[in-house]
Amino acid sequence: MTTGPRVEDHYSSSGIARRILDALAAAGGPDTPATPDALAPLDQFHGRGIQATRELVALLQPQADEEIADVGCGIGGPARWIAWTFGCRVTGVDLTPAFCEAARELNRATGMEERVRILEGNALALPLPDAAFDRAYSQNVVMNIADKRGFYAELFRVLKPGGVAALSNLLAGPAGPPHFPVPWAETPATSFLSTAEETRADILTAGFEILSFRDTAAETVPKQSAIRRKIEAEGMPPLSLRVLMGDRMQDLTVNSIRSLEEGRAVPVEILVRRPA
Ligand SMILES: C[S@@+](CC[C@H](N)C(=O)[O-])C[C@H]1O[C@@H](n2cnc3c(N)ncnc32)[C@H](O)[C@@H]1O
Repeated sequence: MTTGPRVEDHYSSSGIARRILDALAAAGGPDTPATPDALAPLDQFHGRGIQATRELVALLQPQADEEIADVGCGIGGPARWIAWTFGCRVTGVDLTPAFCEAARELNRATGMEERVRILEGNALALPLPDAAFDRAYSQNVVMNIADKRGFYAELFRVLKPGGVAALSNLLAGPAGPPHFPVPWAETPATSFLSTAEETRADILTAGFEILSFRDTAAETVPKQSAIRRKIEAEGMPPLSLRVLMGDRMQDLTVNSIRSLEEGRAVPVEILVRRPA
């Protein structure tokens, strides 16, 4: 039987947490504390880094002691930062074993292992009980998933009635496919962008109410363009996602930003609610 490229192979490498902690120490000295803030340039794996996470939580409004689910948590940067900032508990689920291992090591290094739990699993069959979470979020994950309806159905299942979920990701743009390779996929074989219309329909089919659905291109793409120009002129800084993904991260980032600039991908922030 022949199998196609696997999503997790694009993301995997060994020694991720060690590389990240070493990069932090090299930049700030061996006594630099590994806090969720200090790690943010290295462990927030999505465009615009911690700023995008700040905007997502402004929508989500997590409260102290709530149970929050992070679907496709990566190496756990957003989960640690949110738990640390708001005093909630976050359960992250991710498909990529090497990312789960790195997330657990970084939880220990930041002293966040009591508040942030990491489970290996698929967003299409979340290893989580029904109606267990007050809130949920997912950042730049659904682009890797063909079965969008399965993704939203699982998100719906694990939220308590009345619970909300914030989503930030890229949709298909009007100008054709993105320039590959991009940060989420080497080739079109593991990239599945849907249009705004398809996304709304998929979310509603799962049973959600859509509280807000915002195309953020006008406000974010000019800032991304400035980042692209700086990277092209100077390369990626020492504290950047290059530590996580290797030298190829520069091309992946430039391609992603060019795709946004040309309307080949559209950034959105969405807030949905499971009816009470
Ligand atoms: C671009 S990274 C984003 C990581 C994290 N959300 C963040 O913003 O830092 C995409 C993540 O989605 C995960 N992923 C992709 N498909 C998945 C699936 N079907 N189930 C769970 N995780 C998935 C990948 O393993 C990867 O960690």
